[in-house]
Amino acid sequence: MNKNLVNLISQAEIVRIVRRLAVEIDRDYQDRSLVLVGILKGSFIFLADLVREIESPIANIEFLRLSSYGSSTISSGEAKITMNLPPEARRKADLFEIAGKDIVVVEDIVDTGITTDTALRYLQNYQPASLKLCALLDKPARRQVPVKIDYLGSTVEDLFIVGYGIDFDQQYRQLPDIYYLEEENQDEIAEKANYPINQAITAKD
Ligand code: PRP
Repeated sequence: MNKNLVNLISQAEIVRIVRRLAVEIDRDYQDRSLVLVGILKGSFIFLADLVREIESPIANIEFLRLSSYGSSTISSGEAKITMNLPPEARRKADLFEIAGKDIVVVEDIVDTGITTDTALRYLQNYQPASLKLCALLDKPARRQVPVKIDYLGSTVEDLFIVGYGIDFDQQYRQLPDIYYLEEENQDEIAEKANYPINQAITAKD
């Protein structure tokens, strides 16, 4: 299963990154009460680790599930919310969950930016006091929609990233390190992604 995976960010390095992000968040929210909104499914491991490092009060942890790819890795150009906030958080008049709260959206990776942009615009409708984004990984090479990342773990090249919650065709999420799928897997990746083969993956030197 692992023969086509190349280690990119080790578990130890992930721990350091997550701790640094928690310190940055704590610096900004030390006297405030945070609501974290994880974007499923990819953020579930990152969010679980991040919340255990954050020392600021966390008033609530919510989730949105968005999907921009379906079973392909070609972006449809828009992200759909496939699992929403609970009804009480969606009522505009509700003052507890989102409105008036300091929200930090937690993403595993910002790629085209479509998923994150959709989530941020959706949450902005509910008039939070503040709305920021914490992303473990940023892949700026494929950006289609500008996204401001307030707390960033690491920038990655245009590689197929898997592990630590991030999947390829729903596999590999459970890996504790972050990997990329190496070049020998390129044909299969290109076929699944419907990519031109020479654009499917850039092997790391
Ligand atoms: C992945 C990833 C991000 C999003 C980033 O989610 O977890 O949420 O894509 O891509 P984008 O910037 O091009 O929108 P995906 O839609 O694959 O769903 P998943 O989290 O359930 O794996």
